[in-house]
Amino acid sequence: MSQTTAMLIGASSQLSQALAQKFSEQNVELILFAQDPQSIKPFTDALTTTVTVYPLAIEQPEKIIEQINHAWKEHNGAHLVLVNTGLNGYDPQLPWQLDQDIIDVNVKGYAAICNASFRLLCEQGYGQLASINSIAGLRGGPNVAYHASKAFAQSYLEGLSMHAQRLKLPVTISDIQLGLLDKAAMQGQKFWLPPIDKVANQIIKGLKKGKRKFYVTKRWRLVAWLTKGLPEFIYNTRHWNKKAKKKK
Ligand SMILES: NC(=O)c1ccc[n+]([C@@H]2O[C@H](COP(=O)([O-])OP(=O)(O)OC[C@H]3O[C@@H](n4cnc5c(N)ncnc54)[C@H](OP(=O)(O)O)[C@@H]3O)[C@@H](O)[C@H]2O)c1
Repeated sequence: MSQTTAMLIGASSQLSQALAQKFSEQNVELILFAQDPQSIKPFTDALTTTVTVYPLAIEQPEKIIEQINHAWKEHNGAHLVLVNTGLNGYDPQLPWQLDQDIIDVNVKGYAAICNASFRLLCEQGYGQLASINSIAGLRGGPNVAYHASKAFAQSYLEGLSMHAQRLKLPVTISDIQLGLLDKAAMQGQKFWLPPIDKVANQIIKGLKKGKRKFYVTKRWRLVAWLTKGLPEFIYNTRHWNKKAKKKK
């Protein structure tokens, strides 16, 4: 591979597309995965670099492994695999279906993607596996399965990093701990949250430095530190107060 190649898994989100746009401007060849490849065609058609889009069947782990293996073979590997898939949801009735859907996407699908990508990077002998996770994984929360799934993701990546060290391979594992981001910033509606462009820039900067774990935007490092340190009775009260206020 002479040209830098990045595989972006979960390409339909706004953040993924902001990242893809920036990679494209840097002449990085893109291999994108989206649930519905056709839906992102207008976006990919406007990119200036070589881009190929593959379907993503994240709810079927065996199938996604096949899909990743196939794309890997077609493109003769990749320098970077960036995973940005995720499902979130809140229902105070705690229906099992919601938890199951979140577990399917954020745990089973996620692990299949990371497992397959890590194996391929190890076979290749170098590269970077990065994933956009969430500081929601630091503690339990009202979106029960979502918080738990993000803890799983963080731990899974840490384990892969240990394996990379054991194998003495230059395979970098990067855990991007995302705080909140403002999806509406492009329309200039929520000025207090970081705009997607700023988030994408910080992600690319952290990836280039090969950081093992970093917070985006940076201020979320402090929030994460405070969140981890809070005793449970204060942490819980904060959530209940918020919900009570919202109901009024
Ligand atoms: N948004 C935030 O404020 C925030 C904050 C902290 C952390 N995060 C984390 O950052 C990551 C991305 O967030 P985001 O806001 O960019 O999320 P998003 O807009 O909801 O996008 C999630 C991605 O996952 C894919 N996906 C979801 N369910 C899928 C399924 N069943 N099969 C295949 N693909 C599926 C989506 O593809 P389709 O569009 O094709 O369904 C999309 O590309 C997630 O891990 C999220 O937990 C987000």
